Amino acid sequence: WEGCCRSKKSGAINPQILKSSDKVVDSIDIEDISEKAVFCRCWRSKNWPYCDGSHNAHNKSEGDNVGPLIVTKKK
Ligand code: FES
Repeated sequence: WEGCCRSKKSGAINPQILKSSDKVVDSIDIEDISEKAVFCRCWRSKNWPYCDGSHNAHNKSEGDNVGPLIVTKKK
């Protein structure tokens, strides 16, 4: 499958976040989430790893349809 092995120079998904790292990995303790957390999946957020709404501009300019991952705690 071609999509699995994109190089950093062409077709990179991540345009700006922690580019000096070999791999961007985030860890959130579930106990630190109060009721809901909204995580970015478009790689354009200025508040990584959380969504800041930047996906809206990305979707509009690129004709894409990406959105965040919303994690909610059971009450
Ligand atoms: Fe990336 Fe919202 S800013 S999903």
